[in-house]
Amino acid sequence: MGAMLQEFLAIAVLALVLLMVVVLLLTILAHLRTATPYGGTPQAVGMAMVHLARLEDGQRVCDIGAGDGRLLIAAKRACSKIQAVGFENALGVWLVGKLRILWSGQKVRLLLRDARKFNFSRADAVFLYVGPEMMRSLLPKFDRELKKGARVVSHSFRFPGRKPVKVEEVSTGKKVKKVYLYRW
Ligand SMILES: C[S@@+](CC[C@H](N)C(=O)[O-])C[C@H]1O[C@@H](n2cnc3c(N)ncnc32)[C@H](O)[C@@H]1O
Repeated sequence: MGAMLQEFLAIAVLALVLLMVVVLLLTILAHLRTATPYGGTPQAVGMAMVHLARLEDGQRVCDIGAGDGRLLIAAKRACSKIQAVGFENALGVWLVGKLRILWSGQKVRLLLRDARKFNFSRADAVFLYVGPEMMRSLLPKFDRELKKGARVVSHSFRFPGRKPVKVEEVSTGKKVKKVYLYRW
């Protein structure tokens, strides 16, 4: 191999490693800023959430902190004529999500954005799997923006001082997880 090619390959590998480090650092930073690390909803829980959301053709479902997009992919598979939009602010997780959506062949939009800066007035249903702090901060936002009758389905975490209309327990095989349905 020529010396020039060797040098080029070394620079390319170094650039790739640097890029991966930057993506990793940005992902960690995003997780620290929102205090909500990535964790995927198990399939059985996701199915229960999709069922509770009662999605109909033409409706819009949003996942706040969509992770790898799995809930939206499951929702699209259950009801193909919905609009599925997710918000993920951690670059590395978002990249994995884009690949997963591509692989699934489903038409799901996954935006690299801080969901708190988006207006949810067009959402008919919202999926959540975020920590208590984020739940608390989303409550006044939802009161301002969500349309009457919108469904919010939350995995594991409740809104403080707000009574869910339904609580379901779902076994994942290893654990029993709770899913809360709220109606605005
Ligand atoms: C526990 S994971 C849930 C992923 C997915 N919803 C699921 O149930 O499989 C929470 C995700 O929310 C993202 N997140 C937290 N705060 C966010 C915000 N303000 N805007 C967008 N994404 C956020 C985190 O980066 C993380 O990937």
